[in-house]
Amino acid sequence: MCGIVAYVGERTAYPILIKGLQRLEYRGYDSAGIALINHGTKVYKCKGKVKDLEEHSKGKDITGTIGMGHTRWATHGEPSDANAHPHTSMNGKFTVIHNGIIENYAHLKRELTARGYAFQSQTDTEVLANFIESIYSENQVDAELAVRLALTKVIGAYGLVISCIDEPGKLIAARKGSPLVIGVGKGEYFLASDATPIIEYTDQVIFMNDEDVAVITRDHLDLKNIQNDMLVPKVQKIELSIDEIDKCGYEHFMLKEIHEQPHTISDTFRGRISMDQSNLFLGGITDVLPRLVQARRIIIIACGTSWHAGLVGEYLFEEYARIPVEVEYASEFRYRNPVIYADDVIIAISQSGETADTLAAIKMAKESGALILGVCNVAGSSIARETDAGVYTHAGIEIGVASTKAFTSQVTVLMMMAFLLGKKRNLISQEAYEELIAGLTQIPDKIQEILSDEQYIKGIGETYKDATNALYLGRGNLYPVALEGALKLKEISYIHAEGYPAAEMKHGPIALIDENMPVFIIATKDKSYEKIVSNIQEVKARNGKVIAVVTKGDDVIVKMADHVIEVPECHEALAPLVTIIPLQIISYYIAVLRGCNVDQPRNLAKSVTVE
Ligand code: G6P
Repeated sequence: MCGIVAYVGERTAYPILIKGLQRLEYRGYDSAGIALINHGTKVYKCKGKVKDLEEHSKGKDITGTIGMGHTRWATHGEPSDANAHPHTSMNGKFTVIHNGIIENYAHLKRELTARGYAFQSQTDTEVLANFIESIYSENQVDAELAVRLALTKVIGAYGLVISCIDEPGKLIAARKGSPLVIGVGKGEYFLASDATPIIEYTDQVIFMNDEDVAVITRDHLDLKNIQNDMLVPKVQKIELSIDEIDKCGYEHFMLKEIHEQPHTISDTFRGRISMDQSNLFLGGITDVLPRLVQARRIIIIACGTSWHAGLVGEYLFEEYARIPVEVEYASEFRYRNPVIYADDVIIAISQSGETADTLAAIKMAKESGALILGVCNVAGSSIARETDAGVYTHAGIEIGVASTKAFTSQVTVLMMMAFLLGKKRNLISQEAYEELIAGLTQIPDKIQEILSDEQYIKGIGETYKDATNALYLGRGNLYPVALEGALKLKEISYIHAEGYPAAEMKHGPIALIDENMPVFIIATKDKSYEKIVSNIQEVKARNGKVIAVVTKGDDVIVKMADHVIEVPECHEALAPLVTIIPLQIISYYIAVLRGCNVDQPRNLAKSVTVE
């Protein structure tokens, strides 16, 4: 949510900032701006995308070897030129870019207004720029101290980069709740919300922690906390390749990421299955496994697609490990007064590892003494660091805002955890355990087979591209797939879509069914097959259009449904991994055919670092 990039060194900053913003655009894209520092500060910013900013900067002075850039996802104030970052203090001394929310900004703004400060925008960030400036000029302190003093009075979350006109050559960065990474080059430093703008220049990075403040010039870095204690920066090598952040010939990142799934799922289980496929090893949770095996209850907390993965996890943990599970929206969980026992295990699922609500829910749950595990994709992310232990999904960077490969990797991790727990709790035989493991290793090939039907699936998408509503139905562990299928369609094509447990259809959604309503039904062969066949009949009896995802060779549903999409047979525990693929493909093509911006759907952001 909001992308930050900054540079200080010997190169011209402008192209580094623009390229960095393009890489970060998946985090927010309603406006963009840069500040270049070269004998004063030049700020160029506008509503729209990074390409609009490039257009806006044409013919202007873009010199300078120090600068900062921002791509925005609006929180305070609508997307507009004035609300775009960077923001400067009224007297132009301080320039600030910000990711996060200053919660007490209204109070600060009132105080500043009473002292004669005026504001150009509706943002909390401009308030912060002036608040820092007021401390700076009233106390006659240096910029760094003014920033630190201001931050002790700020309530909220921030990733910040700040410059002061009186101290050229220096950038000050601070983090609390919103991620910031420092790239360490030779005679140059980079700052960014994630490593994607940095990796083509250096693989040496420092992940800033909450309440860290970095003071950076081209040849020096001081890392300290808000209280001014010096810290020793931990420089790490980042494992991320340029290919991972390139579309590699695909029209969109989402399509590339859909196609990557045979590999990403293999990457998720690689090294975690014994050579003879008789056992699973999850290195990240080995030390805490006894507590997990003894868990009184598992509480899964997550948001969005990760929450859907959690629902698949609920089914798996209850089925195979016989541990009761609750799946909670992090945003609800954190503001309730939930009962958490010390022998509960909390599993936080998050692709980005930065979702504000999930992070806050973890912090709250910590007080209970429960074991807290993370299932994250981004290594070194806040959630990965905040949890006691965890399992990385290893799906590689996901850039399309609509999550695809992260979901299937999360589900793969949860499957491995559930099967391992079932075995450790002596609830599944060695034979059944090996059957599940072998089945999992075959999933990538099965997904590849589905991907080879892409054009057929696209054709079905063409038939329904003008729909205004859609229903998605599934039962058991395929009900979360129905929810995820509906989410994919609505977030990128803006068609209203709802997922329901198939049997619940009779308690409301059936009233919506007529000849214009496409109903996607996940109906692979499992123990509730007969029931879902009846649900299909109920839809057909009301003239609904049925698009059924069925097991290859199904000769019953094919006679009832308007369209069938076959998926290869697999163990029913694993079916979510294969059945979601055609739903991802169909959503992708419907959105493309409707002319939607698939990778950057309106109003959404990839990483939601505000609550
Ligand atoms: C946003 C993204 C979703 C994601 C959700 C949770 O809404 O657009 O794709 O599922 O956040 O994010 P997380 O990184 O915690 O999985």
